[in-house]
Amino acid sequence: MTTGFDTSKPSPARIYDYILGGKDNFAADRAYADQVMQVFPEGSQLAWANRRFMWRSVRFCAEQVGQIVDIGTGIPTVPNVAEVAAKVNPDAVVVGVDNDPVVLSHGRALLRGEGVRIVPGDVREPERIIADLDGVVDWSKPVALVLIAVLHFVSDEEDPHRVVAAFRERLAPGSLLVASHATFEGVSGPTLERIGNVNAKAPVPLRLRPVAEIESLFAGTELVEPGVVDVNLWHPDEESGPRVDLRVLGGVARISRNIT
Ligand SMILES: C[S@@+](CC[C@H](N)C(=O)[O-])C[C@H]1O[C@@H](n2cnc3c(N)ncnc32)[C@H](O)[C@@H]1O
Repeated sequence: MTTGFDTSKPSPARIYDYILGGKDNFAADRAYADQVMQVFPEGSQLAWANRRFMWRSVRFCAEQVGQIVDIGTGIPTVPNVAEVAAKVNPDAVVVGVDNDPVVLSHGRALLRGEGVRIVPGDVREPERIIADLDGVVDWSKPVALVLIAVLHFVSDEEDPHRVVAAFRERLAPGSLLVASHATFEGVSGPTLERIGNVNAKAPVPLRLRPVAEIESLFAGTELVEPGVVDVNLWHPDEESGPRVDLRVLGGVARISRNIT
């Protein structure tokens, strides 16, 4: 059977799906994820902490704005972004964007409902995503732009700060920016060494960045309290989980008219 995508190479979305206990992955994804889990067994705890940050931050956004654009949306879990948003804002328009064809096919099968779309797009091409979504998203009205655990797949040369700035400039006042990103700061040397070895073999290696570089992704915005923190500490609930020895930082910020 031809699937239209290469199942012999692991993909970030399917590795992540496997680590979260999902079934939408192939042997190559599982083989790579098993290597990761062998050197970093807390990986699934961290993935869940990030996924729960997605739930809490999307809920926060959907209470305030009616359009959500989730880039690097991943294979849907229960609940998915659209379900989280619909619970607090049944009329919200939710668009998932991803560059992995498996995410697109599963997303289309699983995400149903008025105003829910899954479209192809590459976060490294913000202008193209903005143009492609014209008509689906009303860019003159507030949008929650969600960039969770995707910018660390953007290399320094591809420049995640340029990517965020291009989106930020198009967002109407009152829009919200959500992002999470892995850092090497505050992580023990042995863990970094173990992660580094396995990351070097990754199809799309993670670029762990300093805390200050992650904070500066929010330049030109007003950070919502408590700012950029470990994802399990952002508006925590009883399921946020403990911090593990690899850090993913997350934050939510508001775009306001007066900030340049
Ligand atoms: C670790 S998963 C995160 C999924 C989801 N945002 C979450 O936090 O639960 C990373 C997602 O980003 C997607 N991705 C990686 N590089 C991308 C790119 N250049 N453009 C769009 N999506 C990308 C992957 O396909 C994957 O679905």
